[in-house]
Amino acid sequence: MNSLEQLVTQAQADFASAHDAAALENAKAKYLGKTGQITEQMKGLGKLPPEERKVQGAVINAAKEQVEFALNARRDELANAQLQSRLNAEAIDVTLPGRGRGMGGIHPVMRTWQRIEEIFGSIGFDVADGPEIENDWTNFTALNSPENHPARSMQDTFYIEGNDTQGKPLLLRTHTSPMQVRYACMHKPPIKVIAPGRTYRVDSDATHSPMFHQVEGLWIAEDISFADLKGVYLNFVKAFFETDDLQVRFRPSYFPFTEPSAEIDIAFGSGPLKGRWLEVSGAGQVHPTVVRNYGLDPEKYVGFAFGSGLERLTMLRYGINDLRLFYEGDLRFLKQFN
Ligand code: DAH
Repeated sequence: MNSLEQLVTQAQADFASAHDAAALENAKAKYLGKTGQITEQMKGLGKLPPEERKVQGAVINAAKEQVEFALNARRDELANAQLQSRLNAEAIDVTLPGRGRGMGGIHPVMRTWQRIEEIFGSIGFDVADGPEIENDWTNFTALNSPENHPARSMQDTFYIEGNDTQGKPLLLRTHTSPMQVRYACMHKPPIKVIAPGRTYRVDSDATHSPMFHQVEGLWIAEDISFADLKGVYLNFVKAFFETDDLQVRFRPSYFPFTEPSAEIDIAFGSGPLKGRWLEVSGAGQVHPTVVRNYGLDPEKYVGFAFGSGLERLTMLRYGINDLRLFYEGDLRFLKQFN
């Protein structure tokens, strides 16, 4: 074997034993670099006579090509090996079961909302929806609330920038009762509707939150009495709490938009407040002035209305003693309902 053949064999062996790209580049330098052995041989050509130079040049070139071929082959091998090991490391077993998505749950107050729609829907009540930004007329005046009513004070109500068409300030509705007016003005009797939704008041303690939910109920026809209110409401709470064993009381009260008026209390059946009464609703026969404001004749049309707190009903249903828990977003609390 002449020295060039040896050089090629040596280079092939060096490349084969290079186990990564860096080692391979070092080995390459040894043969093809500026002072590499093949390069040196090329440089030596200049000292030879022209005839020999030609022959020897061809031989060196052939050797160089063999070295380059071995180098490229090894480069490909290393690149493939690297790709393969990456593929192995990042392998996805498509036969494994999926990770699944975290299942959300229905908030307990929303569950109450849904159940209320179902229960009243089943006895023929329509479900209506309305704006949370209200004007003075619909939220107060049409409901017979006098100018000096405390609900109108800045301390109790969130007023927002901007006036209505009468030049009165806009506000976040303090109850769902304006929906009585909106709905009754757009429908002909008999009117039988519930309107669940968000309401707002400057209030915060264990049984009050600045944003809370109410459901308004309204049934207006020619012959709807306070007895109907009692019948409908008692049936509702029995269906809602899924028991007949309930303590419910209608306590005489006052609302500007009803006469007579009552507050409906229910006693906690379980939880830390067992036996304590919680007010869940205002209710009453709709005041004739309000019926007139619906655009109806109060001599002909009568009926009842109620406005119930969804948080309160939910607290009673699950024995929860602090309403603020609903809005803290604590999963330990919320998960119990799903
Ligand atoms: N709007 C009253 C409130 O938020 C509740 C209420 C009382 C609604 C009597 C009614 C009603 O429809 O007839 O306190």
